[in-house]
Amino acid sequence: MAKGKNVVGLDIGSSTVKICRIKESSRGRMLSVLDMAALTPEAIVDGSMMDATVVSDTIRELVKRNRVKVKEAAISVAGHSVIIKKIPLPIMTEEELEESIAWEAEQYIPFDINDVYLDVETLVTRPAQGQMDVLLVAAKKEMINDYCAVTRDAGLEPAIVDVDAFCLQNMFEANYGKLTGQTVVLIDIGAAVSSINVLSDGLTTFTRDISMGGNQFTEEIQKQLNIKYEEAEAYKLGQPPSDAQRQIPPQEVERVIMNVSEWLSGEIQRSLDFYAATSADSRIARIYLSGGAANMPMLGRVISRTSGVPVELANPFRNISYDPRQFDERYLESVAAASAVSVGLALRRTVES
Ligand SMILES: Nc1ncnc2c1ncn2[C@@H]1O[C@H](COP(=O)(O)OP(=O)(O)OP(=O)(O)O)[C@@H](O)[C@H]1O
Ligand SMILES: [Mg+2]
Repeated sequence: MAKGKNVVGLDIGSSTVKICRIKESSRGRMLSVLDMAALTPEAIVDGSMMDATVVSDTIRELVKRNRVKVKEAAISVAGHSVIIKKIPLPIMTEEELEESIAWEAEQYIPFDINDVYLDVETLVTRPAQGQMDVLLVAAKKEMINDYCAVTRDAGLEPAIVDVDAFCLQNMFEANYGKLTGQTVVLIDIGAAVSSINVLSDGLTTFTRDISMGGNQFTEEIQKQLNIKYEEAEAYKLGQPPSDAQRQIPPQEVERVIMNVSEWLSGEIQRSLDFYAATSADSRIARIYLSGGAANMPMLGRVISRTSGVPVELANPFRNISYDPRQFDERYLESVAAASAVSVGLALRRTVES
């Protein structure tokens, strides 16, 4: 088993903050905390922390009501302030890589290099060609600093800062194993962002975040059916508000959900086409969906139709046991999709010092 201790996974989503704690022992992984709390739509907009107090209060409340004792947290970021690129480099040592990465990054990153934190991970080395592939990650300092600040304000220490797409990979590997010899695609469809991670041979080969998610469904329902945002959200969730000014027939809502599903599937397909055009083995075996918006069965069907690839919901608790007296099975099922990133975070460990 890996060294270090499990941290608390804190997924600060733009619509919902999730907290997850998993304890790993020689007997396996055990879920000990899973909870979530909604944020007002104005608290985090377009990845920017607009109301830091609301966010840190929400985190603090989650920590308190779940009696979380561990202070070290793993948090993650996503969206257009994060750039992930696989780049080929001549084989070099870790130190050489650390030294040259800022210079290398300048060619690939569309931001001022002084405004980003950089990280790099070697994926594969090909000694015969004298080449290696590395994964370069650049994230805007401003965003990371804001996410760390709300975490600290809530009394936790952001020991690990991750990226949603990698959290998905971590969650997936723990539950489905490292799938060698095939390509699968993980897509987390949240409220504001959809994160795509193409895993080939168990390694990240391509990632992309699309600035679209559940919010677009709500906004289109609101616009096309001319109702309030809150009402539109309720209709989307299949819980028509009883006090609505006029009742909307379900098929009208379904029609909008279908249209937006096609729009989002088209965006996803563009990314998959781009991946296919730049990779040798582009046959995708399966797409695994997560994120709250993946709960709409229509969306999975449309993505499958558009891509021609089987689609299923990822189960973040497939290989994680839990005490049925603590967690109701139906509750876990209902929050599984939205929990994917927080599970990936909760599986992270601090480095043993
Ligand atoms: N059963 C459901 N049916 C339809 N949509 C749902 C359902 N459950 C949640 N959603 C939608 O999923 C979205 C929230 O998902 P999630 O919690 O994964 O997002 P987030 O992590 O807060 O956002 P982001 O990662 O984009 O910042 C919201 O748009 C919500 O309306
Ligand atoms: Mg999210």
